[in-house]
Amino acid sequence: MKKFIASVMFALSASLLVSGAAVASGDSVHLESANVDIHNTPSLQRGAKYFVNYCMGCHALSYSRYNRIATDLGLTEDQVIKNLIFTRNADGEPENAGALMKNAISQKDSAEWFGAPPPDLSLVGRSRGSDWIYSYMKAFYADPSRPMGVNNTVFPNVGMPHVLWELQGLQEKHCTKEGEGDHAVEHCELKLVKPGSMSAPEYDQVVRDLTNFLTYVGEPAKLHRIGYGVFVLLFLGLFAVFAYFLKKEYWKDVH
Ligand code: HEC
Repeated sequence: MKKFIASVMFALSASLLVSGAAVASGDSVHLESANVDIHNTPSLQRGAKYFVNYCMGCHALSYSRYNRIATDLGLTEDQVIKNLIFTRNADGEPENAGALMKNAISQKDSAEWFGAPPPDLSLVGRSRGSDWIYSYMKAFYADPSRPMGVNNTVFPNVGMPHVLWELQGLQEKHCTKEGEGDHAVEHCELKLVKPGSMSAPEYDQVVRDLTNFLTYVGEPAKLHRIGYGVFVLLFLGLFAVFAYFLKKEYWKDVH
């Protein structure tokens, strides 16, 4: 038993060490907390709407089907066909509700236009994480030296234009230096120099909804998994009671 406990403790501390190292080697850029909640269905619905309107021209979600999203987000197929499907199939007709959320952008052309092709975002909620996506969408700033006129503090020299600039407005990066020579530390912050059509809290909500939607898309089963988990635990609890009485019955003549 002692040996078993020791090996469990060893495995735990090793995994803590590994995850600690992963954090330590991560980006040094400060990420804001996205505070997303995949059980907030209205937020997911808004996120899906923003995604198909503002992002899907470039980014596909090739592992998701429209009707799966409809079911998970409490929408009817009709609502999805009217509000979410803007893509067309090979015959030029609007896609049907069972289609994958692909788009028609050419990887080769877009790599030439933006310097990098827009990646499929099906798994970005898992590969980058919610806080990263949320902070990234708020971190665009004007930089005339870049081909798209913008840069990003979370993803430096990114190829993506600031597609939501009309909502957020334009930010500029202002840096101040503290200290002298080698010990000088640079502090930079983004300041809104040209307001957009939304206030800062309104824009934050748009980005939070988009991030929430991408987080859900990265692992749609999570919506239901937690419900199953509770059911399984209840079942095991009930089963344990029966098992206990069965054991008592078997052993009653022995003792
Ligand atoms: C005009 C095309 C275009 C549109 C529209 C667009 N993007 Fe992008 N996006 C790109 C390109 C190109 C990249 C790759 C940039 C690079 O690697 O330098 C990118 C990268 C990203 C990444 C980083 C992916 C990664 O893991 O590297 C995220 C997240 C992202 N976009 C989210 C969005 C969201 C959300 C929207 C909609 C609000 C959107 N994009 C709209 C072109 C676009």
